[in-house]
Amino acid sequence: MKNNDARSAQELRQQIDAARVPVHVAVIMDGNGRWAEQQGNDRISGHLHGVQPIREALTAATEAGVKYLTLYAFSTENWNRPKAEVDALMELLVRTIAGEVDELDRNGVRLHAIGDLDSLPQGCRTALKQAMDRTARNGRITLTLALSYSSRWDILRMVRGIATDIREHRLDLHAVNEQLIGQRLSTNGLPCPDLLIRTSGEQRISNFLLWEIAYAELWFTPVLWPDFRKQHLFQAILDYQRRERRYGLTSEQLPAS
Ligand code: FPP
Repeated sequence: MKNNDARSAQELRQQIDAARVPVHVAVIMDGNGRWAEQQGNDRISGHLHGVQPIREALTAATEAGVKYLTLYAFSTENWNRPKAEVDALMELLVRTIAGEVDELDRNGVRLHAIGDLDSLPQGCRTALKQAMDRTARNGRITLTLALSYSSRWDILRMVRGIATDIREHRLDLHAVNEQLIGQRLSTNGLPCPDLLIRTSGEQRISNFLLWEIAYAELWFTPVLWPDFRKQHLFQAILDYQRRERRYGLTSEQLPAS
């Protein structure tokens, strides 16, 4: 089975047009709890099995030439889950980041994080900072973890910042445009996602990158996150490459590709 998976991943990868690879892929990793329940285990076991798919998605993205991979790892709303689950997720985060940093660095991955990072436990902040500092100069791919993140949290923060600057005469109302808004969001410096993937069969955005995905292509799969493998990312990219991105124009107006 494993060999078959590897072969099919390899075959799919070879079909990818290297000239039209999405620059930024964002992923809503969903279905850990349902996967665990199907196995007769507790939800936490689903999260533990959610780490290997992250390695697979990152490897596949790097192999395909994706430059930015952003993962929705913990939402603002996830704080309301049972304490044992939140604690287990935070512990897993620390353990995973500390355990993977050498490998990330060796592979040219820059680790980045967005969200209300100050709300994370101290151990988590320290592990993140150390890994981000260590990998800051890498440029093969940027792996962004959205942690204690929600788009409405980010937009609210951005609006308050702009309103305060206008009130205190540091900013002119007429200088507020799409570019400035982008610069004031926590995703500043990341290009907008070209492709958004959600696993587990749910077809919604759940407060993720609402401003940034204005023109992203959406790809939904019934695969539960712990079952996500390299070939799924390659399938998503191939599907993306079959689509026509018109940005409000007509087909005829688009430059020939
Ligand atoms: C969604 O599944 C998953 C999460 C809320 C957490 C994602 C965490 C991981 C993949 C593990 C570790 C992450 C890092 C960055 C080390 P769910 O619990 O909502 O599943 P359900 O919808 O089936 O209940």
